[in-house]
Amino acid sequence: MEKIETCSAYELYASVEELNAEDKNLLMRAQKATQTAYAPYSDYHVGAAVLLENGVVVTGSNQENAAYPSGLCAERVAVFAAGAHNPDVKIKSIAIAAYAGGNPVPRPVSPCGDCRQVMAEYEHRYKHAIRLIMQGENGKVIIIDNVKALLPFMFSADNL
Ligand code: THU
Repeated sequence: MEKIETCSAYELYASVEELNAEDKNLLMRAQKATQTAYAPYSDYHVGAAVLLENGVVVTGSNQENAAYPSGLCAERVAVFAAGAHNPDVKIKSIAIAAYAGGNPVPRPVSPCGDCRQVMAEYEHRYKHAIRLIMQGENGKVIIIDNVKALLPFMFSADNL
């Protein structure tokens, strides 16, 4: 028997002011995208901004539905739009931010399991790590170098 451990590390920044210009701009785009969320049920407005290797930025926001599970998170809206409009262009990084109807969101948004799986598919598809930049409404920022680190033991095309 072997015992195998997995571990992942992330960077924690006190505020956006510590980020490089590219990350900061992308995070601003994600903050702006929270304004396009359709979140009448949760009042939790999420924005995601996808930076492609050719410099194009594609944004998305969560789109809820009266049939709750039919809604979609901001990350998947943005990543699927990027894939649909810019097929075969690698994703470099994704910024995520949230606004909750006037209640401060001090903690960085952490993507749900489904979004991790979807973002990881694009890492696998393009054979290119995707940097994740996560914030709430303001305050601390977390950066993690790749999606796979958020999803150890993930299911991928290699399993098929
Ligand atoms: N949500 C996102 O869009 N992204 C996340 O990373 C976490 C959650 C959405 C789903 C739902 O519309 C609302 O936030 C509350 O869960």
